[in-house]
Amino acid sequence: MNQQVTIEAEQVGDYASLIQLLDCLGASNVANRRRLFYTLFPDEDTPMPMWARPMLEHDTIFARHKYPKHLEFFEAGKKYRERGMLSGNRVGKTLSGGGYELAAHLTGEYPHWWPGRRFKRPITAWACGKTNETVRDILQTTLLGPLYTQPNGKKLVEGTGVIPGDKIGRVAWSNFTDLVDTIYIKHITGRWSQLGFKSYERGRGAFEGTARHVILLDEEPPEDIYGECVIRTATTNGIVMLTFTSLDGYTDVVEKFMPQPDTGIDMEA
Ligand SMILES: Nc1ncnc2c1ncn2[C@@H]1O[C@H](COP(=O)(O)OP(=O)(O)OP(=O)(O)O)[C@@H](O)[C@H]1O
Ligand SMILES: [Mg+2]
Repeated sequence: MNQQVTIEAEQVGDYASLIQLLDCLGASNVANRRRLFYTLFPDEDTPMPMWARPMLEHDTIFARHKYPKHLEFFEAGKKYRERGMLSGNRVGKTLSGGGYELAAHLTGEYPHWWPGRRFKRPITAWACGKTNETVRDILQTTLLGPLYTQPNGKKLVEGTGVIPGDKIGRVAWSNFTDLVDTIYIKHITGRWSQLGFKSYERGRGAFEGTARHVILLDEEPPEDIYGECVIRTATTNGIVMLTFTSLDGYTDVVEKFMPQPDTGIDMEA
């Protein structure tokens, strides 16, 4: 039986409480959109629900066996610390490649079919792109959804990205307009994972410092920043994921992910 629920925002105080309530009721398109993560990679093709249309371009949420490269990428995480998904435009690198895997590690909610690396505890992670602007407009929106400003002027993320909205906690904002600096994500253990956003334009220095478990580089990084990210994940036995379309040709970073030419020398001998 369908029941229409009408709630005035004033009755529940603010948007965050309203959304929390709708999440509990499973009652709105927004509440559904905040659960995008759980609808991706279904067993079988699923007609695109109306609520998903603002985020997804196609008429179908395709079954996961139709994404063999994505599955191969996830599975390779079991074996390799450094992985690259170098592919053409609009194939789902950000949303259902790096973004999906990052969401799984942050929440600890791996789908039953997950073939890849698993972290048992909350993680610290970075999501990175070329400029503050692209990180905010592409990566942040894909992971967290667009921003919402409450009547009292407080900014929130909608939680309609690939990270489940009901897992999103406290946000610290950066100096760059509307760009998240750090956000806390509820892990299945009840503790908090931590996600920071960074851009390559801030230079290698911004990537020095503390260890990370997972780093997502969603555009081709300069080699020095890539090297720094590999170091940041060394002590945690963490992972670095690159998802990009190669626009600058055969760079040093691209070369790392290409099959090496056969020299004819047997290195084991
Ligand atoms: N698993 C999926 N199921 C259904 N649709 C998807 C899936 N993954 C991606 N899409 C659709 O493809 C679009 C492009 O996805 P995404 O932005 O992740 O691609 P991309 O390869 O990162 O693109 P770009 O080349 O612009 O960086 C999404 O907006 C969404 O509509
Ligand atoms: Mg992308």
